[in-house]
Amino acid sequence: MKNTKKRFAAIFRLKKIVIIVAAAIMLSLFSWMLISYEIQIYDDKSILEWVKKKEMKGEFILKNGTVWLDTDGAPIQAHGGGIIFDEKTSKYYWYGEDKTEPNLPGKTCVPVTGVHCYSSKDLKNWKNEGIALPVFNNPQFADGTEPSDGLPLYIAEDSAVYKNSPLPAFSMKEKDPVPENGTVKSPSATLIKHNDANRIAELNALYEGLTYAQKKEMYLNFNWNKVVERPKVLYNPHTGKYVMRWHHDGDKAGEYAAAEAGAAVSDSPAGPFKYLYTSRLPNTAEGLEQQGMLRDMTLFADDDGKAYLIYSSENNKTTVIMLLDESYTAPAADKYGNSVEGVHWIRAHSDEREAPAVFKNNGAYYMITSGLTGWAPNPAKYHVAKNGIFGEWEDKGNPCAGRKADVTYNAQSTFVLEYRGEDGKTVPGKYILLLDRWSPNNLSQSTYVWLPLTVDAENQTLKLTYHAYLTKEAILGLPSPPLTLKEKIKAFFGI
Ligand code: DGJ
Repeated sequence: MKNTKKRFAAIFRLKKIVIIVAAAIMLSLFSWMLISYEIQIYDDKSILEWVKKKEMKGEFILKNGTVWLDTDGAPIQAHGGGIIFDEKTSKYYWYGEDKTEPNLPGKTCVPVTGVHCYSSKDLKNWKNEGIALPVFNNPQFADGTEPSDGLPLYIAEDSAVYKNSPLPAFSMKEKDPVPENGTVKSPSATLIKHNDANRIAELNALYEGLTYAQKKEMYLNFNWNKVVERPKVLYNPHTGKYVMRWHHDGDKAGEYAAAEAGAAVSDSPAGPFKYLYTSRLPNTAEGLEQQGMLRDMTLFADDDGKAYLIYSSENNKTTVIMLLDESYTAPAADKYGNSVEGVHWIRAHSDEREAPAVFKNNGAYYMITSGLTGWAPNPAKYHVAKNGIFGEWEDKGNPCAGRKADVTYNAQSTFVLEYRGEDGKTVPGKYILLLDRWSPNNLSQSTYVWLPLTVDAENQTLKLTYHAYLTKEAILGLPSPPLTLKEKIKAFFGI
């Protein structure tokens, strides 16, 4: 009897505890739901409604992996690119590879147009600023025309001079179509498609005073039948100029043997940029036949005014960081003209990486890269240097989490942009990682993937997850789109 009583009392106590715990959980769930901003069960339709609502309110939203249009309604062509925030105009400028033209028959490359530039106040509405650095196209430099210092490097493709040039026109129908460099006219009207007569005149004015021989060398080196990839621009506070560097290659389209860096300058962020030269870099490696190679690259400006070129070198085995001189157009060197390892350049790491994107947070340097699989996606990786850009770069592994993390969400890194709030000021620890989703067989259809990137400054780690839509909330680490009820419950219990 006594035992039965005790048992009843115990059961009663247990019941009470269960009821109290359940009530507490329900109460906290309820109050949590009350204070959260929206309770909705999202399905595809409600996501679309959410997108529509944001768009109608004029809020920032970009759908990753789709064709993005400029303010004229044309697809944005700025692949492998980078963005600067120009303090003078309070605008962003986005520079990238123009891949307007269709692939050359049977090839995973396009006739090169040049470096395209777009400007924006909000990272969403992009104004076409034209080809800021077009390739040279006057066939008179190779068609036997009488040499004359007065020949322009750029010429409208619908002009009589261009049409009547005896240089053969390139046919997109030929079987093995890529001819020797500079000896065939461009397969399409690449210059006049993107530049009006005034711009062409402005471009030619940049090269006044150069001799025929100088211009011919430039024309043969920088025309539609080359490789122009991963252009990046920095504003140079020492010279007041905008400096463009890019990966220049050839011998001809789709070939990567030259492995050089290009340099161009402009007085204005939208160009036109004046082509200066292309060349290898001064880093040397024992036993390597071809020295100073540069393929995938980026630019980084430190807060002390120093700028660096960061690139895949030594046949893509090593990532080199090269300090630039005050002009940003040439490597830094000692008084004898030598760029010394450890002083002017270092090998950051030698684990076969490309597509570098570099930034600095709270005194530490971060570098996100891809592996070497051509146009195909592969796992990303990041390295961190705590003790200076020329310090040791620690391998931190893949920053991506979640589905498709092993192929970087089918994309490849190109640039890290500091996020700025509405007041134009950078928000500490918040970045946007710019990536390219390549379509190798139809390169002009390649799209962009921009993802929120958060830095944990204390642990020097990066957080990167996929977002179908880039929004301000996603960049700031808030749920975007707002969590579904199921997700909220899961988040509440930490599961
Ligand atoms: C990978 C590089 O990251 C791209 O920029 C491009 O050069 C392709 N390789 C070409 O295969």
